Amino acid sequence: MSKQVAIITGAGGDIGRAIAIQLANDGFAVLCLDILEDLNKETIDLITKNGGTARALTCDILNEQDQQSMLAVAQELGTPKALVNNVGAITGASIQESTIDNWQRDFDINLKGAVACFKTLESAFKANQGIVTNIASVNGFGVYGHPGYSAMKAALVHFTRFASVEYGKFGMRINAVAPGTVRTQAWNDRAKQNPQVFEEAKRWYPLQRVADPQDIADAVSFLTSNKANAITGICLPVDCGLTAGQAELAGTFSQSSDF
Ligand SMILES: NC(=O)c1ccc[n+]([C@@H]2O[C@H](COP(=O)([O-])OP(=O)(O)OC[C@H]3O[C@@H](n4cnc5c(N)ncnc54)[C@H](O)[C@@H]3O)[C@@H](O)[C@H]2O)c1
Repeated sequence: MSKQVAIITGAGGDIGRAIAIQLANDGFAVLCLDILEDLNKETIDLITKNGGTARALTCDILNEQDQQSMLAVAQELGTPKALVNNVGAITGASIQESTIDNWQRDFDINLKGAVACFKTLESAFKANQGIVTNIASVNGFGVYGHPGYSAMKAALVHFTRFASVEYGKFGMRINAVAPGTVRTQAWNDRAKQNPQVFEEAKRWYPLQRVADPQDIADAVSFLTSNKANAITGICLPVDCGLTAGQAELAGTFSQSSDF
């Protein structure tokens, strides 16, 4: 029987890498996409030396020809079954400092690329009851900086709901995961400005910690598995409680020391 293939975009980054390793451990042949060849190769090496099946494709998800290569390589590997739209990036920190070009880039990298990957795999997924997980962000729900990024992540969550309703009749499941702060290299610039950034961030999280890439990979693994067979159209926060509320604020508002 042909192997089920999971395609992970941005698999050279910390979160994409953890997801790719996890889905390989779950038994998928994984197709790892990244625009950066070296980082992607490191992911593949980590999987294959552990006995997993993985293939690297250096590609730009915004490029039409690269999209077609992705489909061809996925079909060579086996049966395309799962897609994790993990590529994403921030630009301007505030509306005042964001240009229209920033907004265009935010749209391209956080929304257009994910929709393009979905459309490329659409026929294969209709035939094989495909499972899609979009990596959104808590920024899609509240104001935490980076306006263009946040707006596009909110749109990605709505795309998730929309697709789950439209493609449910094909047995396809489409969900999203919304991480809060995750300890990754994507924070390097901010950590350079303020080495205490993760320590300071903890204050706002009910669990008093930030997430690790593996926390996100575990959620994706669950949503991709048979254990989530009745789950579609949701956005699962993996945010150490951030979107539930802030203890400090609850303490101020209630004047209770219980928080
Ligand atoms: N790190 C966090 O705190 C955090 C929090 C919430 C959500 N997220 C989301 O998680 C996802 C992964 O984040 P990360 O922190 O691992 O980011 P990252 O920047 O480390 O990884 C992203 C990867 O995508 C690749 N990439 C960028 N553009 C590409 C393109 N056009 N085609 C192919 N590959 C491309 C990059 O080379 C990189 O390896 C993103 O969607 C991000 O928005 C991250």
